[in-house]
Amino acid sequence: MELAQRNYQNASAGLEALFAASNPSVISFSGGYPDRKLFPTRELNQAFAHSFSGADPELLQYASASGFQPLRQKLAARMQQDGMTVTDQDVLLTQGAQQGIDLTARLLLNVGDGLVVEGPTYVGALAAFDAYQPTYHVVPVEADGMDLHALQKVLMTQSVKLIYTIPDFQNPTGTVMSLAKRKALIALANQYDVMILEDGPYRDLRYTGANLPTLQSLDTQGRVIFLGSFSKILAPSLRLGWLVAQPDLLHHLTALKGGVDVESSNLMMHGINAYLEHNDLNAHIQQIRACYLEKKNLMVATLRQHLPAGCSVNDPDGGFFLWLQLPKGFDAEAFMNDTLMPQANVSFVPASVMVPGSGMTNGARLNFTGPTLAQIKTGALALCEALTQALAQPQRLRR
Ligand SMILES: Cc1ncc(COP(=O)(O)O)c(C=O)c1O
Repeated sequence: MELAQRNYQNASAGLEALFAASNPSVISFSGGYPDRKLFPTRELNQAFAHSFSGADPELLQYASASGFQPLRQKLAARMQQDGMTVTDQDVLLTQGAQQGIDLTARLLLNVGDGLVVEGPTYVGALAAFDAYQPTYHVVPVEADGMDLHALQKVLMTQSVKLIYTIPDFQNPTGTVMSLAKRKALIALANQYDVMILEDGPYRDLRYTGANLPTLQSLDTQGRVIFLGSFSKILAPSLRLGWLVAQPDLLHHLTALKGGVDVESSNLMMHGINAYLEHNDLNAHIQQIRACYLEKKNLMVATLRQHLPAGCSVNDPDGGFFLWLQLPKGFDAEAFMNDTLMPQANVSFVPASVMVPGSGMTNGARLNFTGPTLAQIKTGALALCEALTQALAQPQRLRR
């Protein structure tokens, strides 16, 4: 059997690292998993029972590719409170933000088209983009977001169709794009006539400080497609996210969704709508924030106390991840496969799988939301110990 000629390299390497998250003998800092104890299990159970209690056959019927209107309405209201000019007409419900990435790529990218991604970026986005065979242009991420000088150089010399960015608590570095950079990015997109895909699943998960405006709200030319998700604030298994785009694009994206999966599950959309009607999502998010802040603080403090010289970790204001910076030339992927997983029973996501065609080896993504506090402490100490031993062997440094 001959498979289509596509490059699944990023997908397979990255997803393999994430699978370590489901091995119970390993303390996983690799998955992007929420804390299961925070899932509002009882409330979701009640909401789903309530929405289906009338045994209304309509809930089992095909409905619409755009998604259940009352739920789109509620999401539009939430986004309005967040400063975005959005109505339910601008929203398409998707199977997670992941489908929003795929649909956008499907609509905009022909084989070989220029696509800017942050380096490093979300490995699942690369898995989606790979199928459309774009020409990747990697722009480094700085402490205040994408390096816009590097971006401008790319835009001046290459033909680029789409910029993919995660401005809030970037996956994997946890960084937030500054307001100045948000405005400058929009100006560059206008100047070079490029679309932007703003991926925002962590936007509600700020633990300290105040949120900055979305790129979508700064856009005056309909260039930004915005993605949101219930995965990190309710539960990933709901597989429900949303996409906001200007009407013409939304029309095409909705048609494409129809071709992919007809529509999101009507039953699921009704259940989530009932949850939002009977519960205070913001109060739930406050609980999540308090728990994740404690976890993040423990991981940062433990690592900062025990990491060997030449290694450092940042302290983001929100999201799911810390970025571990390792000495120049250190191969984090080899370290994880040869030492960290087999000997210390700890996993992380090495930098190499998060940059297309990667030259980046000396970094790793650490998730602090999935593991328990005890696992964070034990795993962080084991990681520091393994790193200390590995760095005592100079052959670990390749360049
Ligand atoms: C940046 C980013 N985008 C999209 C997704 C996919 O989210 P969903 O579960 O909504 O498909 C994730 C999940 O980890 C993510 O980190």
